[in-house]
Amino acid sequence: MKTFPNKILTKSQAEQALDTAVALVRQNLPLYTDHCQNHSSVHDIYPQCENNQWTCGFWPGEVWLSYERTSDAAFKNTALTLVDSFLYRIENKIEVDHHDMGFLYSPSCVAAYKLTGSEKGRRAAILAADQLCTRFQEKGSFFQAWGPLGAKDNYRYIIDCLLNVPLLYWASETTGDAHYAELAHRHVTTCLANSIRPDGSTYHTFFMDPVTGAPVRGATCQGYKDDSCWARGQAWGVYGTAISYRYTKRPEYLEAFRRVLSYYLDRLPEDLIPYWDMTFTEGDTEPRDSSSASIVACGLLEAAKYANPDQAAEYTLLAAQMLGSVAEHYAVRQGPQGIGLVRHGTYSKKSPYNTCTPEGVDECVSWGDYFYMEGLTRLTKDWTLYW
Ligand code: GLY
Repeated sequence: MKTFPNKILTKSQAEQALDTAVALVRQNLPLYTDHCQNHSSVHDIYPQCENNQWTCGFWPGEVWLSYERTSDAAFKNTALTLVDSFLYRIENKIEVDHHDMGFLYSPSCVAAYKLTGSEKGRRAAILAADQLCTRFQEKGSFFQAWGPLGAKDNYRYIIDCLLNVPLLYWASETTGDAHYAELAHRHVTTCLANSIRPDGSTYHTFFMDPVTGAPVRGATCQGYKDDSCWARGQAWGVYGTAISYRYTKRPEYLEAFRRVLSYYLDRLPEDLIPYWDMTFTEGDTEPRDSSSASIVACGLLEAAKYANPDQAAEYTLLAAQMLGSVAEHYAVRQGPQGIGLVRHGTYSKKSPYNTCTPEGVDECVSWGDYFYMEGLTRLTKDWTLYW
């Protein structure tokens, strides 16, 4: 496996960086208790939004991580207020006709249940798992990501869904109903069979045939072009396979983890923070996606638990180097209320070849802040996953 000479973040440096992040979260509590935080910042400041985006779960996740670090009731009170909002959202089916139930309900409501025993959190998360199950397509065995169910032009899944299916592993554990985890396994099997190319890079989205269920073709939405490799898709691949291995112990998931990780490492620039698409390498002037670095670091720290001692040491070292680079060069130390935690994330950058709506280019992104805090937390203690 490729190794790097970069500085590592020590445990005490991780604690300091986490405390800096927690102070910023504390400063931002008044803005995002009765509102949610927008998916990305505008000049590093997050607008408020209603609880109607796919990203609204990350801010409550940051608040729960802050509560874990400090035991301060101010964080718990805000996070539980947000749980009420998430229960209302799923009970009233507000903007939930898509697959992003895990991104929404794991760091907000599963976390609430695990940390405080919140029955509202558990109920909301089970309803969200049920909602995700309604998007399972028997023809092709996958969760349809977007659009009306069965629509021919949207009969596809996306690699990001690897972070939605952990909600189903949890739902099986908490209810004793194996159905959730079975659908998760069927989806992940389809995804790994089609979305990983022979060189270990990944397609962002993958179309299936609505009549026969056969795989049709890979295509991008947020990457540079169909046959390039969107950095965050690769990062979801790294972390998602590690989490699926955690819950299932299926060797093919760990094998997939190694393949997507290897491609990712081979394409990194010197400071270990990828460009938004991995077609761009050292010296390019394209924006970075710092969030991918934190997501991959979390995947490495999860996979280290199941690796042999030498490999575990390598994974942990790499994660500490990646998070060290984010902490030293990308993390915010102070700023006005509403400021994000990590600069230079990229949500969706338009290219001549992709289909995305341009948003949040070279900005703070809500999940980038969350996974940075999760990674730092993982470096400071044996952390119980929200996923
Ligand atoms: N799941 C959408 C994204 O990563 O931007």
